[in-house]
Amino acid sequence: MTPSRGLESDAGSEQAAGTRDILAGIGVPAEDLPVRERVSRAHIAALAGDAPHLRIEGLVAGYGRMEILHDLDLQLGTAQSLCLIGPNGAGKSTVLNAIYGFADIRRGSIVVDGRDITRQPASAKLKEAGIAYVPQDPSVFPDLTVEQNLRLGGYLMQGKGEAKVAVERIFDQYPGIAERRREPARVLSGGERRLLEIARALMLDPQLLLMDEPSIGLEPRYVDMVFHMLDDLQHREGKSILMVEQNARKGLMFADLGYVLVAGQVVIAATGDELLHDRSIGRLFLGE
Ligand SMILES: Nc1ncnc2c1ncn2[C@@H]1O[C@H](COP(=O)(O)OP(=O)(O)OP(=O)(O)O)[C@@H](O)[C@H]1O
Ligand SMILES: [Mg+2]
Repeated sequence: MTPSRGLESDAGSEQAAGTRDILAGIGVPAEDLPVRERVSRAHIAALAGDAPHLRIEGLVAGYGRMEILHDLDLQLGTAQSLCLIGPNGAGKSTVLNAIYGFADIRRGSIVVDGRDITRQPASAKLKEAGIAYVPQDPSVFPDLTVEQNLRLGGYLMQGKGEAKVAVERIFDQYPGIAERRREPARVLSGGERRLLEIARALMLDPQLLLMDEPSIGLEPRYVDMVFHMLDDLQHREGKSILMVEQNARKGLMFADLGYVLVAGQVVIAATGDELLHDRSIGRLFLGE
C-alpha cells in the first residue's frame, strides 16, 4: 500500500524535520514511516466522500497557552467511522475535546452538517448539532442507579416525559442494561459501565459520536460487545463515529478510515485497511 498517497512534499520544511525528530524519539526511523508534514486537504476530502458530516480545517487548539494541535485537518463522511491512533500525548483526546468545546481553539474551523460549530458551547453541540462525547475517563456515577445514570444523558431535554421515552427506547434497544435498571451503577463491572456510558450518550439520539478509547481496560468479551454496539450504531442507524483507540488493531479493523496523529499533526491519513496492512504501522502500533 502507499500510505503516503495524497501527501504534499515536505522537502525542506522546518516542521518536517521536527516531525522526524519526534518520530525518532519514539523509536521510528524516518524512512520507516512514509511521513510528510502536510497530509493534503484534497486527500482528506477524498477519503470522506461527497457528504462530509464533520469537517475540520486548519485547527490550532490546546489548553490555555499550551498549543497541542497544529493546523489539523480532518474529515468524516456521513455514517462513516474514523479511528485516530498515535503515541501517548499526541493530542488524540484533544481533537475530541476541541470538537466538543473542552479545549481552547485559536484558529481554524469545525463544521458539522454544513454548520460552523467552532465556538459553540458543549450543551449546544449535544442538543443542536447532534454530537455526543464518551470521554476516555470513567464517567458513570456509582451511587446512582443505572436508570438515573441514563437520565442524566437526557438532562438537556425539555420535560421529564421526553427523557422517560428516551430511557425506555434505550432499554428496548439494550435489554442487558434494562435488566440492571434499578441497581446502583457501582455494582456493574467495568465492561458493563462502559456499555452504560455509551448508552447514556445515545439519549439525545446524536448523529455524530465521539468515542475516546471505548475499549480501554476491558476484557475481550466486552471489547467485542462495545465494537458490536458501535457497528450497529454506524451501519444500522447511520451514525458517524470518530474514535480514538489504543487497541489500534481493533480500531482500524472497525473503522473505515484511520489517521495517525503525532505531536498534534496528522502524519498519515488512509483507509483503515490500508493502515492495517502497512508494515511500519504494524510494527509501531499493532505489535507485529
Ligand atoms: N485538560 C487539559 N489541560 C491541560 N493539558 C492537557 C489537558 N488534556 C491534555 N493535556 C495535554 O495535552 C497533550 C495531549 O494530550 P491528549 O490527552 O490529547 O493526548 P492523547 O493522544 O489522547 O494521549 P493518550 O494516548 O495518553 O490518551 C498532553 O501533553 C497533555 O498533557
Ligand atoms: Mg487520550
